[in-house]
Amino acid sequence: MDLDYKGKTVVVTGGGSNIGRAISLTFAREGANVVIGDVDTEQAEKVVKEANALNAGGKTITVKCDVTSLDNVQAMFKKGFEEFGQIDVLVNNVGWDNLMLFVDTTPDFWNKVITINYVGVLNCTKTALDYMIEKKSGAIVSISSDASRQGEFKEAVYGGVKAAVNSFMKTIGRENGRNGIRANIVCPGVTVPSEDVEIGDKSMWKQSKDFFTPEQLEKISKAYPLRKIGKPQDIANAVVFLGSNKAAGHITGQVLSVSGGYSMVG
Ligand SMILES: NC(=O)c1ccc[n+]([C@@H]2O[C@H](COP(=O)([O-])OP(=O)(O)OC[C@H]3O[C@@H](n4cnc5c(N)ncnc54)[C@H](O)[C@@H]3O)[C@@H](O)[C@H]2O)c1
Repeated sequence: MDLDYKGKTVVVTGGGSNIGRAISLTFAREGANVVIGDVDTEQAEKVVKEANALNAGGKTITVKCDVTSLDNVQAMFKKGFEEFGQIDVLVNNVGWDNLMLFVDTTPDFWNKVITINYVGVLNCTKTALDYMIEKKSGAIVSISSDASRQGEFKEAVYGGVKAAVNSFMKTIGRENGRNGIRANIVCPGVTVPSEDVEIGDKSMWKQSKDFFTPEQLEKISKAYPLRKIGKPQDIANAVVFLGSNKAAGHITGQVLSVSGGYSMVG
């Protein structure tokens, strides 16, 4: 199916690593122009090269951007708009956590989780809406987590904040349907990079490597009805579908788990 991304512009936050990388490359493969906003310029530049080498019709650029800074976010969108003339899709992909029992966490840790995972989404969504409302069209897809749907061991603060992202996005969908703007959420389960080149130095996976050993991943996969761990491409496929007005034009305010059936919410 043609998802109709030729000539469209997509902003992908954290688009340099793992899931964000797959999302950026998939949009690029569909012929979209892609703006990767990431704090890790070196890793993002690698993805820019890969995306542009696809020669699929669009152009990919990166703008150094910390999503927790509204100024940074506004500057990134401005650059994307100057380069491509329109903003059609925002993918709020940046996220961060460090697995810990809640009793072992500190207020500094809570603040970091809330700021990156929630304030970042607020900054980017507000800025994207300013462009999208003007042209009465747009789609926003936020990457949440299955931890938001049922609670997850060692992910208390992160799961709570991702649940806030789900609720926030539903309100954005309700308030902006009249503006031709859709807002949806994708919840990955454990989604691992296949190779080191897929992740940057600032990736959560650098710190989680010791926890997610092959033995641990094998154990986790047994909790998934499909008996396998997700790949970044699994998430990217759902995101490009939900971002497309042609394919998903009548879908808004929905939470889609892409997690091998780990969570099944009616
Ligand atoms: N990988 C998983 O198992 C998994 C599971 C559930 C949900 N998720 C969610 O999926 C999303 C992507 O996860 P991932 O595994 O690809 O992460 P990752 O850590 O590999 O990549 C995150 C990217 O975001 C960038 N980044 C971090 N902080 C930033 C900031 N403040 N501003 C701009 N860029 C920043 C990093 O440089 C990196 O390129 C996150 O929202 C995460 O919470 C991931």
